[in-house]
Amino acid sequence: MDRQALYSVARALVAPGKGILAADESMGTIAKRFARLQIPSTEENRRTYRNLLFTTAGVEAFISGVILFDETIRQAADDGTPFPRLLADRGIVPGIKVDTGAKDLAGFPGEKVTEGLDGLRERLAEYYRLGARFAKWRAVITVGAGIPTAACIAANAHALARYAALCQDANLVPIVEPEVLMDGDHDIARCESVTVETLSAVYQALHQGRIALEGTLLKPNMTLSGKDAPRQATVQEVAAATVRTLRATVPAAVPGIVFLSGGQTAVLATEHLNAMNQMGPHPWELSFSYGRALQDPPLSTWKGVAANIPAAQQAFFLRARLNSAARHGQYTGAMETAS
Ligand code: 13P
Repeated sequence: MDRQALYSVARALVAPGKGILAADESMGTIAKRFARLQIPSTEENRRTYRNLLFTTAGVEAFISGVILFDETIRQAADDGTPFPRLLADRGIVPGIKVDTGAKDLAGFPGEKVTEGLDGLRERLAEYYRLGARFAKWRAVITVGAGIPTAACIAANAHALARYAALCQDANLVPIVEPEVLMDGDHDIARCESVTVETLSAVYQALHQGRIALEGTLLKPNMTLSGKDAPRQATVQEVAAATVRTLRATVPAAVPGIVFLSGGQTAVLATEHLNAMNQMGPHPWELSFSYGRALQDPPLSTWKGVAANIPAAQQAFFLRARLNSAARHGQYTGAMETAS
C-alpha cells in the first residue's frame, strides 16, 4: 500500500471548489434513465452520452474525478482516446464502481446487502492497470416499519470495510458509500437517527478493518425528510441536521465527504451543499459526488439527438459550475439563469 499516493488522491478529489461526477450507472440503471427519454440503451448510445459529459470543455475546473462503470472504463472517446486517459489528461481522476449491486438480504424482508467481494482483489488490480485511482461501493439502507435492522447495518458495514481494505491494498482510494434511502414517509429526525446508527457502525467496521481513514472518502446521504413525508424539511433544517449527523459520527481524519444526490432535484442538491458550506469551517471538506443532480439536466437536453450535444454540454457545465460555487458557500439562485 502506497499511503502517500492514497492520501494525495483522496485530497485531490476534494480540492477546493471541486467535486465528483458519478457516471457509473449499471446497465439496468442507465437503461431506465434512457427509457424515460425514449433513448435506446445500446453500447454506442451509452458511449456517446458518456463522451458528451467527459469532453465538456472547461469542466475540469469544477470536476476532480469521475466514477466510471465497468463498460465505460473500457470505452474510448470519439477520437479513439480511452476514457480513463482522456480524463487523466484533463486532470480529472478516473474512478470505478466495483460493487455488483444491492441484493435482497436473506432472512430480512425489505432489506439489502451489497455484493461483489468475491474476486475483488483481481478486479481492482485490473482497474488500476486501466487507469482507475479510486473506487466506489454503495450499500443501501432502507427505512421502514421495523427496519433497518442492526443485522442489515452490520452486514453492509462489514462489506464496506472488506472492500475498503482491498482497495487500499491495490492503491485505490475507497469511496465508502452507505446510502440511507429517502424513500418513505418518515420525518427528518428518523433519517438522522438511522444515518447516525449506520455511520457509527461503518466507522467501527473501518477501524476494525485497519483502514487508513486519510486515504478514504465518505459518500453519504444528506439527512432529509422521507420523500413522501407530510412535511419536507427546509434547506436550513437539512443543512443543520446533516452537519450534526456527520459531526457525531465521521472522524476528522477523513479528508472529505462527497454527498450523493439520491433523488433530490438538481437545484435542491446544490442549495443543500451550499447551506452546509456556509455553516463551516468543518473538520472535513464537504463536496459532491452527484449522479442525477449533475446529469438530469444534460441528459434531458441531449435526448439521444446529436444536434443537442452542445446544449447538453452547456447544461452539464452549468450544474458543475454551480455546485463548485456551493463548495465555497457562494451559490445563489440568480446564478441559475445568469449565462
Ligand atoms: P445520485 O447522486 O443520483 O444518488 O447518484 C450517486 C451515486 O453514485 C449513487 O451510487
